[in-house]
Amino acid sequence: MHREPWIYFCGPKDLLARKAILDSLSSSGVATQSLNIDAPSGEGIICFSSVDDDLCDFVREVSHNREKRVLAVPLDGTQVDSQQAWSLLRAGASDVFLWSSVSEMASQVKARLDRWRAVDELLQSPVIKKNLIGQSPAWRSALRQIVEVARFTTAAVLLIGESGTGKEMVGRLVHELDSRVCGNELVIVDCTTISPELSGSEFFGHERGAFTGAIGARDGAFAKAHGGTLFLDEVGELPLALQAQLLRVVQEGTYKRVGSNAWQRSQFRLVSATNRDLLQSIEQGHFRHDLYHRIGGWIFRVPPLHERREDILPLASHFLRTFLPDISVADFDLPVREHLISRPYPGNVRDLRQLIARICSRHVGPGPITIGDLPEDEYPAGAPTKESWRHPEFERSIAQALSLGVGLKEISQGAADTATHIAMREGNGNLRDAARRLGVTDRALQMRRAARRRQNDE
Ligand SMILES: Nc1ncnc2c1ncn2[C@@H]1O[C@H](COP(=O)(O)OP(=O)(O)OP(=O)(O)O)[C@@H](O)[C@H]1O
Ligand SMILES: [Mg+2]
Repeated sequence: MHREPWIYFCGPKDLLARKAILDSLSSSGVATQSLNIDAPSGEGIICFSSVDDDLCDFVREVSHNREKRVLAVPLDGTQVDSQQAWSLLRAGASDVFLWSSVSEMASQVKARLDRWRAVDELLQSPVIKKNLIGQSPAWRSALRQIVEVARFTTAAVLLIGESGTGKEMVGRLVHELDSRVCGNELVIVDCTTISPELSGSEFFGHERGAFTGAIGARDGAFAKAHGGTLFLDEVGELPLALQAQLLRVVQEGTYKRVGSNAWQRSQFRLVSATNRDLLQSIEQGHFRHDLYHRIGGWIFRVPPLHERREDILPLASHFLRTFLPDISVADFDLPVREHLISRPYPGNVRDLRQLIARICSRHVGPGPITIGDLPEDEYPAGAPTKESWRHPEFERSIAQALSLGVGLKEISQGAADTATHIAMREGNGNLRDAARRLGVTDRALQMRRAARRRQNDE
């Protein structure tokens, strides 16, 4: 079901060199198509002969700001220094690599495409599609990286993010996707509820008579997680004394039961989650930096809901179907939709879930959810205005540009380019629709795009 990747050549028209690349890709099993320059979509390969701002802008456009994977492959004889490689990566390229023979290049491309495909298949699998709702670029980008690490490595994973963003759900997913795990357990330890006196036993288990009340031997979390996953939830709350005790077992997988001198072994994948800023906790002396490095083989930030507003309605419909499985029209009236999208969610997805639960308990009769179903404390102070697009993220982006020395001209140009891309993409490449939404004439939009293309083209 995968579309063939597109390929685009920037640079002198050396037809022989181009043919050699296409032939080699094809004999490695990589069929390509040409890029629809007016509405670039899907994954692709850019072959280039020099790195400059135009190439980076082009990569930014075709990768849709990193959302679509793009390989940047220098043409034979093209030099790329580290600085240039980083510029391409920052512009949205997934990889940049030099090559010595065209067949080597083709097999490197093939290997990367195969990996992307495997990751995409996992992303489309029922375990994700049914449970983890979200299609926004921020969510998809986070999930894509998490899925790859979960399936293709056994590294320790640390999930950070605000409360209610879905860290526990993602932790469970890492366990389910682990290629080692086959029916083995996911053991969740909530570090907020660990009692300092019994904590050793909870993790390490104990022998009979190890302490008063230890009437029988008992396995701890490490033993239970053998062959599976240990999930340390709210790891930032772990008492300092216990952090020291965990170092060895996290690193080497060996530990002693309380009341025993014999070493035990346990092989498990460690997943930890926290909504604390652990680096700040380290500075304040509340968290050990050596433990931080051991639990954070890979560190992923689960994005807050305000960075993925596109996910609000799909999540809302998902919760609606969960709470009212018999509802005939799983939909919200326009004012409700607008309210759901513009409302703040300090408790993230959990907040949204609770709101939908409250809405559902008020809803009666057939038909969609209407504005009267909203609880009274949800009534907005005023109607949404045209100004409401200026979210804090927008200001943050501009502040970052200014701090990097980007001037007003480039910022305005960037904003106009972004608006054009979005209008073209959402209108499926229809220029007239896009021009209407942008409030310009068809001709002005045509000229603008032609000018940008000329800059990008050879
Ligand atoms: N992508 C998602 N799709 C569907 N439901 C989600 C998603 N993300 C979160 N949820 C739901 O939101 C609620 C909160 O999720 P979860 O407990 O995983 O968050 P958390 O980040 O661990 O929160 P906390 O930091 O408070 O422990 C749960 O009911 C979960 O089912
Ligand atoms: Mg949690």
